[in-house]
Amino acid sequence: MPPHIFNVAARAYQRIQEEKTNQVILVSGESGAGKTESTKLMVKHLVYMSPNRSDDLHNKIVQVNPLLEAFGNAQTIINDNSSRFAKYLELSFDERGQVIGATIRDYMLEKARVVTCNKDEGNFHIFYSLFAGASKQQLIGLNLSESKDYRIIKCGCLKLLEEKTKYREIYLQQMDALKRIGFDADDMNILHCMLGAIIHLTEVRFKEADKVNEPLEIVNPDQVELAAELLNVDPLELCLSLIKTKTEYGGEQLYHLKNLEQARESCDALAKAIYERMFGWVIRRINEDLNPTKQRKKVAASIGILDIAGFENLQVNSFGQLCINFVNERLQNFMNDHVFRNEKGYTLMKAFHGLIQISKNNEDIIDTFWKKNIGLFDLLDEETQFKQGSDAGFVRKVTTNHAKSEIIAKTRNDDPVFGVCHFAGKVWYDCHGFLDKNKDTLNDDLFDCMKDSTNDFIRDLFTIKKGPTGTISETQFHLRQPKKVQREHRSNNAMQLSTELGKSLKE
Ligand SMILES: Nc1ncnc2c1ncn2[C@@H]1O[C@H](COP(=O)(O)OP(=O)(O)OP(=O)(O)O)[C@@H](O)[C@H]1O
Ligand SMILES: [Mg+2]
Repeated sequence: MPPHIFNVAARAYQRIQEEKTNQVILVSGESGAGKTESTKLMVKHLVYMSPNRSDDLHNKIVQVNPLLEAFGNAQTIINDNSSRFAKYLELSFDERGQVIGATIRDYMLEKARVVTCNKDEGNFHIFYSLFAGASKQQLIGLNLSESKDYRIIKCGCLKLLEEKTKYREIYLQQMDALKRIGFDADDMNILHCMLGAIIHLTEVRFKEADKVNEPLEIVNPDQVELAAELLNVDPLELCLSLIKTKTEYGGEQLYHLKNLEQARESCDALAKAIYERMFGWVIRRINEDLNPTKQRKKVAASIGILDIAGFENLQVNSFGQLCINFVNERLQNFMNDHVFRNEKGYTLMKAFHGLIQISKNNEDIIDTFWKKNIGLFDLLDEETQFKQGSDAGFVRKVTTNHAKSEIIAKTRNDDPVFGVCHFAGKVWYDCHGFLDKNKDTLNDDLFDCMKDSTNDFIRDLFTIKKGPTGTISETQFHLRQPKKVQREHRSNNAMQLSTELGKSLKE
């Protein structure tokens, strides 16, 4: 019989008590298979087995998973509550087997979902919850109207906008969970301001100027003004950073005007960066609360549970799916190695032959991604660094270098699409935007603009460097406590901003 989740948790707990060795539980399966639900049940069971169960810490640990889901999960065509990031939750135990802390490590947040999602899918739950759960006064404070008015909400499944009761419940529960982990009124305020700023930024529209070599026109500068107000940054500096970019050449600073596509991408890139850093900050705060430094020396052993975004094959598969599916391929390979191929595991498998499907070896597939020079990732990096590189150029490189491969499939037409025969099935990848997503850069000007915020917390949030796993949640940098965002209400803001912008561009 396949391992029962409560039994797996109980065995891990038994081992830390008997052997005092750290244990890791890897939860694998395709998207929708039940990894996250199983993880939550295992965490509950581990906490339940701990001798002192009345502890507030235990309740907080159990509440943390739904909290992360509000910010990191979204509806896909496969799963209404799909994890769009990978998490490693580590529970620490003392000598007596008592849970004394928890730490979360986050990886690979699918931040592109903030600005685009496929039809019939959803943005991260927190956006729907904000509109359904925040008070009218709060929404007015963020200058937000109806959820259906905003691009990043209405681009996905519209039915989600009708599920107000469900999302209101999520909002209330998660605000309560945030308070329990120590969020005060100022933390809450800044969190809402960041969400509001993302929504306003993604509404900004640009227009080509009538003459060539003239800067783009910002059609609705009021949206830039509102985002700037919520982030305590200079609206003029933000406008300029969205339409111009500076480069250094021979010690001199040169300015280039952005084209329409580059300006739109800048808005989206900033929105994604804010969301990603906000997510990392929430995880930092959870870790600070659940794993206080004073407890660390008492740790006798730990149990870690890895819950990643599962293998998926959507209607349109992009860079995010390629990365997710590769990670699943690696996890499958690890399982093959450690469970199926080691002697004990193999004997066990033979005994259960027929009940459990023995997965085939997937090393060739890993090589197709990983191999030096001709692996998909190296080819993508090479094309990204190439000045004239394009998404179509990348696909050509893939199909030429892997022309004889049975793992790579190509289409008959010229679309920048290729297929990969994964261990779990063939997936076609649409490579539009792959190069940009691989670059994943925010213009220095936009970074500088955020670092010039008059709010210390926003400044720190954009000064902090990401750790090796691509998140800010684990770095040592000390973030200053948020202070309430100071709102400056100027009359005729947008008009005044347009005039200032016009003047500044002429200088
Ligand atoms: N043990 C369970 N009890 C009840 N429902 C379950 C259980 N496991 C899974 N489900 C149902 O299946 C759905 C998908 O489960 P879950 O979100 O855990 O999948 P997942 O493997 O984490 O997927 P993804 O890779 O997309 O994150 C849940 O929303 C729930 O409706
Ligand atoms: Mg999940």
